[in-house]
Amino acid sequence: MTTTAHTSPAAVSARDLTKVYGSGDVAVTALDSVDVDFARGAFTAIMGPSGSGKSTLMHLLAGLDSATSGRVVLGGTELTSLSDKQLTVLRRERIGFVFQSFNLLPMFTAAQNIALPSQLAGTTVDSDWLDLLTSTFGLTDRLTHKPHELSGGQQQRVAIARALSTRPDVVFADEPTGNLDSRSGVEVLAFLRRSVRELGQTIVMVTHDPAAASYADEVVLLADGRIAGTINEPTPDSVLAGLDALRSAETTGMAR
Ligand SMILES: Nc1ncnc2c1ncn2[C@@H]1O[C@H](COP(=O)(O)OP(=O)(O)OP(=O)(O)O)[C@@H](O)[C@H]1O
Ligand SMILES: [Mg+2]
Repeated sequence: MTTTAHTSPAAVSARDLTKVYGSGDVAVTALDSVDVDFARGAFTAIMGPSGSGKSTLMHLLAGLDSATSGRVVLGGTELTSLSDKQLTVLRRERIGFVFQSFNLLPMFTAAQNIALPSQLAGTTVDSDWLDLLTSTFGLTDRLTHKPHELSGGQQQRVAIARALSTRPDVVFADEPTGNLDSRSGVEVLAFLRRSVRELGQTIVMVTHDPAAASYADEVVLLADGRIAGTINEPTPDSVLAGLDALRSAETTGMAR
């Protein structure tokens, strides 16, 4: 799967994507004509300074908010052409979400949390896929536990298994290690990478942490609502250097 990761068509793409919040004097251009492709079967990190548009881009790619202009295409479907109801179904069936705060339902077991998206869609999780997910994420002997009986790292692994349970086109992860200590964070990142390498999934992750970004196959840098560059096979050092270059470009007025 990894050999075709960068040659297969994009899992999700943005074309000329612009988002303006407010109007007149208070208008803020959060995204400015962004063109970007996120490869199927790849792990991509989005990085950039605070306010550069990372969350806005992720929300538009995931159909959680609408663009001012431009297009998002996810797994061959143009999101702007969909009604609210169609968008809701698409989000439920073809997108997975992983949040900083895990967002598990406290009264349900790990197994019940993982099965929830399928249940909402009126289907069941394929049992072979469920077995593969729980063994890959080291959850097999934790399935009957409720979230409060699990460590933070284990809870986030349940949340990732839940996000992957419907075999979505893309999993969007917003600061997935933000609430974890560094050891649990590293573990969760390793599992995210395994789900790409071994299970062929597609992950787009927003992070502030160069060490976290180094688990990705590629880093997309955002500055001022624009794509400011990409870093292939990132290392913590190359990511730091990329972010430093953005900062010095900004202070010398060369950002655009
Ligand atoms: N609902 C909103 N209304 C008005 N402006 C907004 C809104 N959401 C975001 N913005 C503005 O759009 C720009 C991009 O915001 P965004 O949240 O996408 O940045 P970010 O890169 O995710 O930042 P951070 O790293 O701090 O999370 C910022 O200038 C922000 O103030
Ligand atoms: Mg943000």
